[in-house]
Amino acid sequence: MIQLHDLHFKPFLSAQQISDAVNNLAYQINRDHKEDRPVFLGILNGSFMVMADLVRRFEGDCETAFIRTKSYEGTKSTGTIQLDMDLDISLEGRTVIIVENIVDTGLTVVSLSRKLKQHNPQHLKIATLFLKPEVYNRELEIDYVGQNIENKFVVGYGMDYNNLGRNLPELYVQAKQMKNIVLFGPPGAGKGTQAERLKEKYGLVHISTGDVFRYNIKNATELGKLAKTYIDKGNLVPDEVTINMLKAEVEKHPEAKGFIFDGFPRTEAQATALDGLLESKDTQVSGMVALEVDDEVLVERLLERGKSSGRADDANESVIRDRIKVYYNETAPLKDFYQKQNKYYGVDGVGSIDEITDRLSVEFDKL
Ligand code: IMP
Repeated sequence: MIQLHDLHFKPFLSAQQISDAVNNLAYQINRDHKEDRPVFLGILNGSFMVMADLVRRFEGDCETAFIRTKSYEGTKSTGTIQLDMDLDISLEGRTVIIVENIVDTGLTVVSLSRKLKQHNPQHLKIATLFLKPEVYNRELEIDYVGQNIENKFVVGYGMDYNNLGRNLPELYVQAKQMKNIVLFGPPGAGKGTQAERLKEKYGLVHISTGDVFRYNIKNATELGKLAKTYIDKGNLVPDEVTINMLKAEVEKHPEAKGFIFDGFPRTEAQATALDGLLESKDTQVSGMVALEVDDEVLVERLLERGKSSGRADDANESVIRDRIKVYYNETAPLKDFYQKQNKYYGVDGVGSIDEITDRLSVEFDKL
């Protein structure tokens, strides 16, 4: 995964696959126009790479020229194109091949082609290395296509996102922009309450591994039965089983704007597995947000909760202190893991529920 400005991109086509597409384009043009001494007219900025590679594969004589257009702002077509028509070459009676790196809606090539017709070329052809057939408006036939690609925003090999990425020799595709947050908090920090509020506020799916385990075991799913064989023997459920349950849970929400992971990951191995799972869904962990509360405040809160909740594990001070210790032993390596990637966000967890939601929201907004 690479990052350009605020967006993440994942590998899409290798340099070899791009080269194959250029070969395909060159083959068709050589077949039809080897003897015609064509003018290859590259559309700037994006086509500089494909022009360089394409004309080197052209087997006859040719001329080259460039023209500049702009139709994209960020990752969206603006619907209008700006042309810079300072052509220092006469197209009258010539075979002109417009060279685009990518045709999306077709707005650029169609309007350019209309304008160039006024220069009376003998033949006017359109060649593009990549075409997005799902969005192409089909006002004109594209004569030569190197390769069709799906309707996704790509960068590399001349194509940019706000001017970055043109130099990449491979093609990358935009990864999904999701808020995937690993929420941490020691026992008594109010993580459950906050997760419920944040889930509503940001329209995220809250996955609590504890709930997922209970659900799978109660409904005797294959994974639940498997997990139970370990639990019944007093063993820890292996990461692989847990991650598979999580995967099934994530897959239940293909349209989710993001997830709050609660109770997972607990180890570095699980964090790596979570990265793998999210990467397979074209996304990644946005950050780990951890509620930070002083131990003494936690002990006090839990003892208070024990009085009304009747939860045995909340009633005894030494049990409470042990749980807090276990939490810090467990999470310290994970804090490191995410801190190294600049993905750790600590939030002061002392205050009213509203205050803490506000502080957490400041971090959620950034992610
Ligand atoms: P069209 O006018 O909608 O066909 O878009 C053509 C122009 O938009 C290309 O020359 C590119 O500069 C830009 N473009 C289209 N799709 C992409 C993309 O996926 N990544 C980067 N630029 C793109």
